[in-house]
Amino acid sequence: MRVVFVGPPGVGKGTQAQRLAERRGVVKISTGDVLREAVRLGTPLGVRAKSFMDAGSLVPDELVIGMLAERLKADDTRRGYLLDGFPRTIAQAEALGAMLDARGEALDRVIAFEADPEVIVDRLSGRRGCPRCGKVYHVRYDPSPAGARCSACGADLVQRDDDRESTVRRRLTVYQAETAPLLAYYRERGLLAQIDGSAPIEDVAVRLDEVLSAPRPV
Ligand code: AP5
Repeated sequence: MRVVFVGPPGVGKGTQAQRLAERRGVVKISTGDVLREAVRLGTPLGVRAKSFMDAGSLVPDELVIGMLAERLKADDTRRGYLLDGFPRTIAQAEALGAMLDARGEALDRVIAFEADPEVIVDRLSGRRGCPRCGKVYHVRYDPSPAGARCSACGADLVQRDDDRESTVRRRLTVYQAETAPLLAYYRERGLLAQIDGSAPIEDVAVRLDEVLSAPRPV
């Protein structure tokens, strides 16, 4: 299975990607997670990416494309992969197409999740994440059974720096300007499926499985 998840910040891409990857036994590659880890470690990539991420802007294409190309070289991508948050620009989509061609692979589906901006702001204000294992929670909609700690690894949960309301609104604007054009790009290629991301987590997961099991319209 080779699937791309697209959608505005906070729509639930990461939550669904984590669960789907477990259900299907494929690796989830989140460019946001890889970039945050690079920032945490202070690598040259992280140093360059940090100011863009803090501002709610996209990290320049050449940095992200190079990073994804490296990540796809790992053995764990052989059984398939789920790309969460890549591509985010037409240039990234074209680069991904070239990488897939070189590997003799093709995408199965591109899933676009959708929700109203107010749903998104509410979700991101209550999001908490594990800095150690990356598991994501919500204080009301998906609380950790271990309270303020991660139920998987026990680390203290944290709030992301870019989840402040002003930065979230900037990320939404950037999504509309730079990423939303991907919907038409992938619709033209017969790959796009749109899913209502404002439903409860389990309902979205059921709908996602239905979409991925259905034959692609020709
Ligand atoms: P990234 O980490 O990818 O952020 P994002 O796309 O803005 O998405 P989020 O992680 O904020 O949201 P999500 O849709 O995964 O929602 P989640 O499942 O967590 O990127 C961060 C930054 O890195 C970017 O701004 C950019 O700077 C850079 N970057 C990354 N990729 C890049 C690229 N390709 N090119 C250039 N720059 C790049 O859910 C949110 C909350 O809601 C959680 O608390 C969750 O528990 C809850 N929730 C989820 N689903 C539901 C539901 N159905 N009902 C109720 N609550 C729910």
